Amino acid sequence: MHWLSIINASIFLWLCVGIALRRRHMLHATMMTLGFAFDIALLLYVEFSSAAIEQTVAKPGPLLLVHVLLATVMLALYPFVIYSGGRVLAGSDRTRHRRLALPFMVARLLVVVTAFMVAR
Ligand code: HEM
Repeated sequence: MHWLSIINASIFLWLCVGIALRRRHMLHATMMTLGFAFDIALLLYVEFSSAAIEQTVAKPGPLLLVHVLLATVMLALYPFVIYSGGRVLAGSDRTRHRRLALPFMVARLLVVVTAFMVAR
């Protein structure tokens, strides 16, 4: 059972619902910030438990490297997307927030896909 990948996919779905609710500004902001908290919690769990190691293939291959790289890109983009969202809330134009959100969500989706691929 790839339960870590299922939690990972659930956070992605949570973020998708948050985007679908973007017109309700405070709800959107809360859901996306919570999504960040969920992702950090998952990352810390994976880092400090043996669960991820037990669920991945014995020998780390290029796919695992791609997965870790994508997760790093995704985490690096989070503060920028959240900050730009705060700017939109304060009255700025949405363009920058949208331009950051697109690569972020693509990276987030690819993290889900590669998580299922590296899991046994
Ligand atoms: C991972 C974090 C986030 C993602 C991926 C994300 C994504 C998006 C997307 C795709 C849009 C639509 C942009 C458009 O139609 O031009 C949007 C709109 C918006 N976001 Fe975010 N967002 C995130 C976090 C936040 C946060 C933390 C805030 C506030 C503190 C925020 C505030 C807003 C606002 C005010 C809008 C405009 C909604 C509207 O009236 O159409 N976002 N967001």
